[in-house]
Amino acid sequence: MTSAYEKLLRCVQCVREKTDFEPELGLILGSGLGALADEVETEAIVEYADIAGFPVSTVVGHRGRFVFGKLGGVRVCVMQGRVHFYEGYDPADVLLPVRLMKLLGAKALFLTNAAGGVNKSYNAGDFMLLRDHIMTFFPNPLIGANLDELGPRFPDMSQVYDPALSDAIAQTAETLEIPLHQGVYCQLSGPTFETPAEVRMLAGLGADAVGMSTACEAAAARHAGMRVCGVSCITNKAAGLSAEPLSHEEVFETSNRVAPLFRRLVRESIAKMGALGL
Ligand code: HPA
Repeated sequence: MTSAYEKLLRCVQCVREKTDFEPELGLILGSGLGALADEVETEAIVEYADIAGFPVSTVVGHRGRFVFGKLGGVRVCVMQGRVHFYEGYDPADVLLPVRLMKLLGAKALFLTNAAGGVNKSYNAGDFMLLRDHIMTFFPNPLIGANLDELGPRFPDMSQVYDPALSDAIAQTAETLEIPLHQGVYCQLSGPTFETPAEVRMLAGLGADAVGMSTACEAAAARHAGMRVCGVSCITNKAAGLSAEPLSHEEVFETSNRVAPLFRRLVRESIAKMGALGL
């Protein structure tokens, strides 16, 4: 057994000392979107700090706890605040929360994030359904000893984002009359925002949105056989596409502004997934 898997089992044990709740779906909330956890009919809360060896987020706007309960009628485990590679964690630690949710019982993962709009037609406050991602510029988080207990050495990534779950989100957006782009998300390491030349490059490569999370978590989830879906909140036009310099405050301000709409979209999408037999 690898030391990473042993560490994971210790984390499972810590959570199990607090709750025996078994989630069907894991939900990761991005910058400024953490308030969605308030809508959960909470059954248990576990602080990351109480899980031995668990990475604790240092970013403002990320709370640092798991909320277990029902959302839209589905048993969820909400990660209120994620950890990022740019905070200095090993890639394996960035993946640990997703793997933990899998071992707690989650069969599917719903990822959310704040992202910059690379596609020129995207505006601050828009939403984008992830149909695929580019992780090429990011150190592959699955490098190192493979956790054979979770998945294969060479996991297939030809369909990372589950078509049925993604279609459920698209249909929900249509019903709620919430405009929803569908596109490709590119993960860079951060913490710098991109230069305008990098944004032009990303556009040329087929990216529609850029951010500093999500793709590595999606890859880890697929490695472990979970179904994955995701939505980006486009908090700003990417560098060079607007006259304004970029800042975390702007990211936060936009995600807070559209949070009520975003919350509705995520909650109702999860309800639809539940109704379809997640
Ligand atoms: N670039 C990278 N990450 C981001 C951005 C951006 O423009 N906006 C929000 N997260």
